[in-house]
Amino acid sequence: MSRENAIAEINIHRKLTKEKAFQTIIKNRTFHSGILAAGAGFLKNGESGKGVLSRWYPTTLAKRLRAINLMRDKLHFEHGDAFDVLERYKDDDEVVFFIDPPYTAGGKKAGSRLYTHFELDHEALFAACGKLKGDFIMTYDNAEEVKNLARKHQFMAKPIPMKNTHHAAMTELVIGRDLSWMRGIDRVLENQKEYKTSN
Ligand SMILES: C[S@@+](CC[C@H](N)C(=O)[O-])C[C@H]1O[C@@H](n2cnc3c(N)ncnc32)[C@H](O)[C@@H]1O
Repeated sequence: MSRENAIAEINIHRKLTKEKAFQTIIKNRTFHSGILAAGAGFLKNGESGKGVLSRWYPTTLAKRLRAINLMRDKLHFEHGDAFDVLERYKDDDEVVFFIDPPYTAGGKKAGSRLYTHFELDHEALFAACGKLKGDFIMTYDNAEEVKNLARKHQFMAKPIPMKNTHHAAMTELVIGRDLSWMRGIDRVLENQKEYKTSN
């Protein structure tokens, strides 16, 4: 892996899904913050000045892909609107939802730089979650607007430590109906110096 090799591979017009997937992994691991949106660029310094190599862990990536492969029959990807999915399964109490929306509430624009589909009606998302028979958790930026939405819908909101793209320690919110089960996680977090939500 080098910047030159990565550019050379990404610029080839590949046809096979497998080849395109490989190109996507390269982009995700070598572009700044893994951002694939138009205009994204390569990591400059990355972690400890290692540039494109800073998040390129081939052995770990291969291990993860093999683990995913073992359960591939259980995985299904749908390219569509998550609101349709929430509506489809809202009466099924066996379904558990994990929702990781782009954060653009309260005028914060981080989400809009990162994703092509950044526009989201956060109030509508909270309302849709309120109608779910099954359990759900959402992750959000720790912001006043989000906490207000959680209060309004009588959900619980709990800050958990994370590191942002600049590796500064900060918190994000986990939101759910009943987060009492997270007490166990608190103990694990206390024993960790840092907790990464990505990478
Ligand atoms: C914070 S990211 C999710 C990151 C993901 N959990 C991961 O670990 O890679 C938010 C994503 O929501 C997508 N998104 C925005 N609105 C959506 C919608 N209505 N339905 C489905 N996905 C949507 C965005 O395109 C963006 O990729």
